[in-house]
Amino acid sequence: MVNFTVVTLFPGMFPSPLDYSILKKAQEKGMISVRLIDLRDYATDRHRVTDDYPYGGGQGMVMKPEPLVAAIEDMRSKLVNPRLILLTPRGKVFDQAEAQRLAQEKELVLICGRYEGIDERVRNFVDDEISIGDYTLSGGELAAMVVIDAVTRLIPGVLGNLRSSQEESFSNGLLEYPQYTRPEEFRGMKAPEVLLSGDHERIRKWRREMSLKITRDRRPDLLKQARLAPQERRLLSESPKRLYVALLHYPVYDKKGQIVTTSITTMDIHDIARSARTYGVRGFYVVTPVRALQKLTLKIIAHWEKGYGSRYNETRKEALSLVRLKDTLDNVIMDVEKECGAKPQLIGTSARGRERRLSFSRAREMIKEDFAPFLLLLGTGWGLAETVLNQSDYILEAIEGGTDYNHLSVRSAAAIILDRLAGKEL
Ligand SMILES: C[S@@+](CC[C@H](N)C(=O)[O-])C[C@H]1O[C@@H](n2cnc3c(N)ncnc32)[C@H](O)[C@@H]1O
Repeated sequence: MVNFTVVTLFPGMFPSPLDYSILKKAQEKGMISVRLIDLRDYATDRHRVTDDYPYGGGQGMVMKPEPLVAAIEDMRSKLVNPRLILLTPRGKVFDQAEAQRLAQEKELVLICGRYEGIDERVRNFVDDEISIGDYTLSGGELAAMVVIDAVTRLIPGVLGNLRSSQEESFSNGLLEYPQYTRPEEFRGMKAPEVLLSGDHERIRKWRREMSLKITRDRRPDLLKQARLAPQERRLLSESPKRLYVALLHYPVYDKKGQIVTTSITTMDIHDIARSARTYGVRGFYVVTPVRALQKLTLKIIAHWEKGYGSRYNETRKEALSLVRLKDTLDNVIMDVEKECGAKPQLIGTSARGRERRLSFSRAREMIKEDFAPFLLLLGTGWGLAETVLNQSDYILEAIEGGTDYNHLSVRSAAAIILDRLAGKEL
């Protein structure tokens, strides 16, 4: 049983969320209780004022320390061993592990801020400061509800089936596997055969594997903490699925060393897409700021995705479906980050001699072992501008043919590099 006490300026915000489903049942079964304390009851003046202007000026109002500390001290004197938590965007970010810890407490007091926040001195009177995520809410009430909800689910007996809280996302440090229900086929999409097999061991294995792969693809940061068996780590590193490629048409050098925007070469797009597909690259970005060239790229993709080409050559369609168009490298980085939940490490390439190069073998190891995404940068024209190379986390060693001729096309270079980074070991 956990008793929640919420100190708030707006107690009226709480009854509705508490009156449905699991939170309602948990109260009915006596597994939680929620008491709402109106902070204004602790104001001592006639108008029950709880805020004031900020010292030093600035916008908005700040919550005064006296009513808050009076409420806190009252809770400390009335409750047995309460844990007092201030909800604030500056607190420790709330996660499942913290919810587990709080579910062991008997008395939790959640203090909600409003306006521009709370007088700094109030911090000295609480036990913990919790944020529910890196964004600013208008008040701590919704944050308190989130904490109440997440903690309540973990109190033994609250969820009918105990396993369901043990298997869901984050409970074992991983995201949950995909779930399906009837119908067996929906709009041409079938539920995985294994789930209909009735073979519990196969289902368990499939779910664990999906859970691992989904976590690797979407939240690789979680894997660092997760407890994994050695064969599971191996499974995750099998395919270099977090490798991306970007073909930059700007900023690159021309023959005279000037920064230019180069034109699109259809053959580059086709061939690099095919290499990308062959070596398990997750996305191939064509980067150009020029509108007309963007249109041309889209036309090529559409021809193979939906037009005549898609019927004429299925495998080409498959490769070209990896092509993504962006106007700048920054937008590519943002796109990869959105997909993987982590910024990609940039691997620049250059045919010219440079110091401190990343060897192919080291790059291969990193891509295999590191859960972070990698973005391989390829230049057109006479190569990537210095600004891009400086922005890169690594610069890959140059491909050497052992002669004095060093003019590989970017599509040939891409194929060679991908084979060295992601191809089958010789
Ligand atoms: C508008 S916010 C104050 C933000 C404050 N000026 C700052 O930048 O840190 C008002 C109140 O909402 C609550 N709040 C806002 N974002 C929150 C978050 N991410 N987690 C927990 N509480 C939050 C806090 O109680 C805070 O005192």
